[in-house]
Amino acid sequence: MDRKQHWENVYRTKRPSEVSWYQVEADVSVRLIQEVAPERSAPILDVGSGTSVLVAQLVAAGYDDVTVLDISGAAIAAAQARLGPSAARIRWIEADILDAQLPDSRYQVWHDRAVFHFLTEPADRAKYVAQVRRAVPPGGHALVAAFAEDGPTRCSGLDVMRYSPASLHAEFGAGFRLVKSERDEHRTPGGSTQMFTYCLCQRVDTG
Ligand SMILES: C[S@@+](CC[C@H](N)C(=O)[O-])C[C@H]1O[C@@H](n2cnc3c(N)ncnc32)[C@H](O)[C@@H]1O
Repeated sequence: MDRKQHWENVYRTKRPSEVSWYQVEADVSVRLIQEVAPERSAPILDVGSGTSVLVAQLVAAGYDDVTVLDISGAAIAAAQARLGPSAARIRWIEADILDAQLPDSRYQVWHDRAVFHFLTEPADRAKYVAQVRRAVPPGGHALVAAFAEDGPTRCSGLDVMRYSPASLHAEFGAGFRLVKSERDEHRTPGGSTQMFTYCLCQRVDTG
């Protein structure tokens, strides 16, 4: 099964609150986004948003330039249905982040919770970082949350990578300055815990 089929199948067969990554509130992400982009006109991209509540929280906080990208059309449809009329205030892109046609230097904040860690091939991680470099201008930020070193080894039936703050920052390279990192303990709907590493990096101008 290819990557798109896998995720379409997940969202066709599970309700938003049944998936292990479900959060009632995306509070760590919202807090860190507000720290680096307090102005409500800041363009924000949520990569692999799924049916996350993050975009609803951003819209409720007054952000008016929010884009959601996901490989799964079923996820996007479910997210739109959950948002109701607010969905019209968000831009929606159904695409694989590795080959999406993203506009140059468009986003002040690139957010990803639990997508990058599925990239187990170095070539795919390099493609992902190239996309961040294209879409986020110098001065903008990438906020990436991945499983921590003591996090799960698999998720949604797929192998994952696990990261310390240093190893996650290292994936992004010299063009990104580590602003801060945090550990977060996620409690799944099934009652188990998963440790995440949040890495907030600023894109720096390396010429
Ligand atoms: C584990 S879920 C996390 C969802 C959401 N970020 C959250 O924290 O609730 C991973 C999400 O990334 C999407 N995804 C996986 N690989 C992707 C890719 N290569 N490009 C775009 N989206 C992808 C999936 O469809 C799914 O919605």
